[in-house]
Amino acid sequence: MEKEPLTEPQKVLIRDSWQIVSQDQIHHGTVLFTRLFELEPDLVFLFQYNSAHFSTVQECLGSSEFTEHIRKVMTVIDAAVSSVDSLSSLDEYLTGLGRKHRATGVKLESFKTVGESLIFALESGLGELFTPETREAWSQLYGVVVGAMSRGWYREPQGE
Ligand code: HEM
Repeated sequence: MEKEPLTEPQKVLIRDSWQIVSQDQIHHGTVLFTRLFELEPDLVFLFQYNSAHFSTVQECLGSSEFTEHIRKVMTVIDAAVSSVDSLSSLDEYLTGLGRKHRATGVKLESFKTVGESLIFALESGLGELFTPETREAWSQLYGVVVGAMSRGWYREPQGE
């Protein structure tokens, strides 16, 4: 992640919009995953916990384990927004996170749908505040996050 892809005005748009959405992270995260499961219903089967194997999207969305995953996702986005001036500081963490996701069986291609679902959730939460410029800024930020995660699909663990 050598190159800094976000401009200063884009960083302002991201911080301002996230300040609104992050007030209710679980709600907006639930909108994101509801959309994701509409677009790729089979992803629900990748979420299996010791105490719970879901056979429907509703069961998954209603479970406390899955709510924790929503919280984890929103925490990563929150970290990316807080580190928008120095995204490379998250590189190693995100590559490791990508590696963990590869191990869960999720395909890298599905992260494109996650990106679309994130944009959908932001748009639902922000209404007309979600301008084309804000959308573009978020697409770029998401691209950086997934770019770093995707290295976890290809790179072998270091020092192990
Ligand atoms: C296709 C979408 C995704 C699928 C199928 C998926 C699946 C999973 C699964 C099965 C786990 C392990 C169980 C758990 O902790 O609940 C997990 C953990 C996690 N996921 Fe995801 N995930 C997806 C997207 C994301 C995204 C977009 C992020 C953040 C950018 C994320 C962040 C995390 C984190 C932080 C953990 C915990 C990792 C750890 O234990 O260190 N996930 N994910």
